[in-house]
Amino acid sequence: LNAEDIAEIKKTWAIPVATPTDSGAAILIRFFTKYPSNLEKFPFRDVPVAELNNSARFRAHCGRIIKTFDQSISQLEEEGGLQKIQEIWQGVAKSHVERHNIAKPSYFELREAIVEVLSEACNLNERQAEAWNKLLDIVYDIIFKKYDDLGAQ
Ligand code: HEM
Repeated sequence: LNAEDIAEIKKTWAIPVATPTDSGAAILIRFFTKYPSNLEKFPFRDVPVAELNNSARFRAHCGRIIKTFDQSISQLEEEGGLQKIQEIWQGVAKSHVERHNIAKPSYFELREAIVEVLSEACNLNERQAEAWNKLLDIVYDIIFKKYDDLGAQ
């Protein structure tokens, strides 16, 4: 990521992070609507998609996803930030393999939902979409390397 990428990411991120739970909810509802099998992995699997927003457990998870991105984005220009970003996403990978039993294809499905919702919410131009895709490439690289280390699919 160059300085311009980081500036575009920070500028656009200010919009969804202002209402973190609602932004996370928009992403996850898109994810479950397009790829319903992912909902089966969650404790709120029996809640109909239209009622998810009333589930406290769902809302908690929405906030956590946004927080994970927010912690990473705030490290982008910090000394030792890449190391911290690596630790954050290796931790996500480890818990999702060992505790949540999530396979790699689900991340591609989630990525689609993230990019779509961000594009709409932030009205991303081409340059901004490129910066976000670069960040997601970095994050996904860390996750999938950890999956490989753990012998996970
Ligand atoms: C739990 C973040 C992708 C399913 C969590 C937690 C966090 C998190 C912070 C709670 C702490 C933990 O258990 O580690 C993320 C981020 C993702 C991601 C940042 C990628 C951008 C996914 C995907 C799935 C998934 C693709 C597939 C269905 C789950 C489940 C839980 C969980 C089932 C447990 C929820 C609960 O017990 O209420 N996630 N996650 N996550 N995640 Fe993810």
